[in-house]
Amino acid sequence: MRVPLNPQLDTLSDYPFEALRTLLNPVTPRVNDPPILMSLGEPQHQPPPLLAETLAANADKWNQYPPMAGTAELRQAIVGWLNRRYRLAAGALDPDRNILTLAGTKEGLYLFSSLVVPREKGGRQPVVLVPNPYYLVYNGAATMAGADAVFLDATRDNDFMPDLAAIPRETLERTALFYLCSPANPQGTVASLDYLKQAIGLARQYDFVLAVDECYAEIYDRAPPPGALEACAALGDGFDRVVVFHSLSKRSSAAGLRSGFVAGDPKLIGHFSHLRSYGGCQVPLPIQAAATALWRDEAHVEENRARYRRKFDIAEAALAGRYGFYRPDGGFFLWLEVGDGEAATLRLWRDAAIRVLPGGYTARAADGRANPGEAYIRLAIVHDEATLETACERIRRVL
Ligand SMILES: Cc1ncc(COP(=O)(O)O)c(C=O)c1O
Repeated sequence: MRVPLNPQLDTLSDYPFEALRTLLNPVTPRVNDPPILMSLGEPQHQPPPLLAETLAANADKWNQYPPMAGTAELRQAIVGWLNRRYRLAAGALDPDRNILTLAGTKEGLYLFSSLVVPREKGGRQPVVLVPNPYYLVYNGAATMAGADAVFLDATRDNDFMPDLAAIPRETLERTALFYLCSPANPQGTVASLDYLKQAIGLARQYDFVLAVDECYAEIYDRAPPPGALEACAALGDGFDRVVVFHSLSKRSSAAGLRSGFVAGDPKLIGHFSHLRSYGGCQVPLPIQAAATALWRDEAHVEENRARYRRKFDIAEAALAGRYGFYRPDGGFFLWLEVGDGEAATLRLWRDAAIRVLPGGYTARAADGRANPGEAYIRLAIVHDEATLETACERIRRVL
């Protein structure tokens, strides 16, 4: 018997890791070298001992239902961190009105579209703007909310950030939500404060919501990436129509903790809190306690950042001048131009036992344009330094 399913599901055919398994699983590497898996952005650094210590110290709380919005201590710690990190005025953010904790940003990014995408806008199907390449959840969230996902190519020609001035007015008028990612996955580009202000200006002018995914904000090379809340503060009109998503997955190498938050426009946060009381994931109290301790601590973050910098040094020394190598401003990916991303991925697996992601799997051909990722591969430099050195040697040997 056929179970009737939501027909939108059929359009979700872009889960990149499934496509990667289909490409590589039939292939056995010809070399005996130990495999190096650089396809997944999962930090291999260990989180600081503070995490396990705080979990253990709060082990008597597993019996309690946790508050959906997050404990007052956690929301206070998040406000403290946001204020320090983005130099916000004391009192600009209220832990009760501007912050909701999440079980990692993924679920929040997904559910958020159900909040802000109406059935129609101006009598037409609403649009969700998605950078291209993109984190797959943006497209999934847009599609399942019944929106028309409009892909904004971010290529070398526009410094790997969507060209805001090129978005047609007719598209902006239909837009309900814009997912922006800075630092961008996969290219590592950082949106400048001016760029963020421009995006906020468009959201206010055309009456849509700007959701900025800042989950790589703490992995940066030189300058701390500006954030959308900081841009709001510079514009001086509160956080109207703007939310940001942050996570401990990359900042504290704690992807398994499942802890993040959304912050910004108090009206949106209030409505999101209401929606999440039906469909949100609660975060257990010991995890909230650990998250509180992690947001209060900067030492482990600085150490983590320094490790990524050393790895970008290694990658730069080995790969500069090849494959269009550039040192990204943020994040932990290399975005290498190799001609045919799928062919290079196959070759790296078959001849070097390195698993990477073809860039085309995290982007798509839209509106008659070529897939802006198809000439690239994405490599997550999440391992230790020695492993990265080995990987770079093998890449140079094979590509
Ligand atoms: C751009 C981007 N956003 C969000 C996430 C989700 O991270 P988490 O749910 O662990 O916070 C990821 C994870 O890889 C990501 O790359």
